[in-house]
Amino acid sequence: MLDSLDRTITLTAPAKINLALHVTGRRSDGYHLLDSLVVFAGFGDRISVKRAALDDFAISGPYGHALPDDASNLVLKARDALRAVFPDRATPVAIHLEKHLPVASGIGGGSTDAAAALTALSSLWALDVGIDTLAAIGLQLGADIPMCLYGQPLIARGVGEEIEPMATFPRLPLLLANCGASISTPQVFAALDKRDNPPLPALRAMRSLDDVCDYLKATHNHLFQATRALTPGIDDTIAALERTSPRLVRMSGSGATCFGIYDSDRDAEEAAAKLRRDHPDWFVVATHSAMEGN
Ligand code: C5P
Repeated sequence: MLDSLDRTITLTAPAKINLALHVTGRRSDGYHLLDSLVVFAGFGDRISVKRAALDDFAISGPYGHALPDDASNLVLKARDALRAVFPDRATPVAIHLEKHLPVASGIGGGSTDAAAALTALSSLWALDVGIDTLAAIGLQLGADIPMCLYGQPLIARGVGEEIEPMATFPRLPLLLANCGASISTPQVFAALDKRDNPPLPALRAMRSLDDVCDYLKATHNHLFQATRALTPGIDDTIAALERTSPRLVRMSGSGATCFGIYDSDRDAEEAAAKLRRDHPDWFVVATHSAMEGN
C-alpha cells in the first residue's frame, strides 16, 4: 500500500456503554467473568496519527489535563505493544489525543483510545492485520480494549474478550451524565459481595427501542451497588436522569457515568438541556448508539 508521507489518520474513539453488565464468576487470576451488552456512542475522543521524524504524543481537549502523557498512557502502551510485534514497519509517529470523555468514568475512555490507536497505527503502518490480531495485542493492555476495537453493538463475555457482534440493533437516543466522580475499577470489583450471578437472559432479535428496553428490564449492572457504596454522587446522577422521563436509566461499567435511553433524539437533547441547567459542572452529552465502528 502506498502511503503519502504526510497522511494524517483521524479516528473517533467512541464512548463505550454497558447497557447491561452481569458479573457471572471470577477467574483464578482474580479477573471477573462478565456477560455484557455493549453499545458505542456517536461521541468520543479523537485520535490522530501521522508519520514524524521522532515519536511524539500530545493531549488536548476538555479532559486532557487529567491524563499522563508519558509511557503510562494506554495510547502509548498500545503504540509500543503494536511496534513490538511489527518492529520493521513501525516508523516514528506523532499521535494527538483529543480528550472529550471524562477519565476513569465507566465509558471506556482509556480502552477506547487504545483501541483507536491500534486501528489507526495498523493503517498508518500498513500492517494488513485483522481485528483478531489487534484484539490479542489489546487484551494484554486492558480487558475492554478488544470490544472497543469493534465499536458496534455486541455481547462481551469472558473477561471481555469473547465478542459476539449484534447483527441488527436499533439506534438508541442516549444521554450520558457524570457528576464529576472518577472511580477506581479494581476497587469496585474488589467491593462486590456477589460474583456468581446468572448470565444475561437469552438474546433475542433487537430491532426497535421497545425490543431493547423490554430486554434490559430483565438485566442489571451488577457493579452498581458496589460503586454506589464508594461514590455517593451516583444516587444524585440517577435521580437527575430519572426526572427527565427516560425509558431506562442505568450506570455504565464501574461508573460513575450513568445513561438514560429516550424515545427520540429531541427528548435526549431536552433532557441534556435540563441537566446542564441544573448541574452546570457535570459532564452531560446527548448522543446515540452507533451501528458502525471505526
Ligand atoms: O483490564 P483493565 O486494566 O481495564 O481492568 C482494570 C481492573 O479491573 C483489573 O485490574 C481488575 O482488577 C478489574 N477487572 C476485573 N475483571 C474484568 C475487568 C477488570 O476484575 N473483567
